[in-house]
Amino acid sequence: MDLFEERRSIRKYTSQPVTDEVLHQLIEAARVAPSGNHTQPWYFIAVRSEETKRKIVKADHDQEWMMGAPLFLVCVADGYVRLKDETIELNEETPYKGQKLVLRDTAIATEHIALKAVELGLGTCWTGYFVQKEMKEILGIPKDKHVVAVLTVGYPAEEPKPKERKTVEEILMYERWG
Ligand SMILES: Cc1cc2nc3c(=O)[nH]c(=O)nc-3n(C[C@H](O)[C@H](O)[C@H](O)COP(=O)(O)O)c2cc1C
Repeated sequence: MDLFEERRSIRKYTSQPVTDEVLHQLIEAARVAPSGNHTQPWYFIAVRSEETKRKIVKADHDQEWMMGAPLFLVCVADGYVRLKDETIELNEETPYKGQKLVLRDTAIATEHIALKAVELGLGTCWTGYFVQKEMKEILGIPKDKHVVAVLTVGYPAEEPKPKERKTVEEILMYERWG
């Protein structure tokens, strides 16, 4: 429970780099995530280059604070595992059910990374405010994939207070809706 309660969105980082060894531990946490039909439709692109980070930030509505993170993890869902057609362009508007499933599964794996990061003393922040087409162009991602999130990763330089949340009573129902 500590991991869940300690996790915060971190938007200020120290300059300490995230080593490849630590990166592998994060991806290991994603690797063991569950997925529908065990499709494992996720890929992760580790970005450390300042030049590429700058382009990503621009595509992510100029969220300047992101530049302080030494590592970006671009979390990509593979539509092909469900749709079996690499000519299908996945974007914000595509209505395919298969797309929804791979987004769902990749989101689970991404949150595994966010929680593992807490265990390793790291901070992360999900960002999802980017333009899909621009992200794919920057990173050379094929059209049948979908960028689910850019996770900023680094050692925290802030300790944000926990945000107010709905209570258990507000979100738990028994047996049926209502
Ligand atoms: C899918 C998703 C997208 C998000 N996108 C952004 C974003 O673009 N920029 C940002 O600063 N925070 C973003 N957040 C972080 C949320 O604002 C944050 O999780 C929420 O306010 C709760 O705060 P906490 O994570 O510290 O508990 C995103 C979170 C999720 C799950």
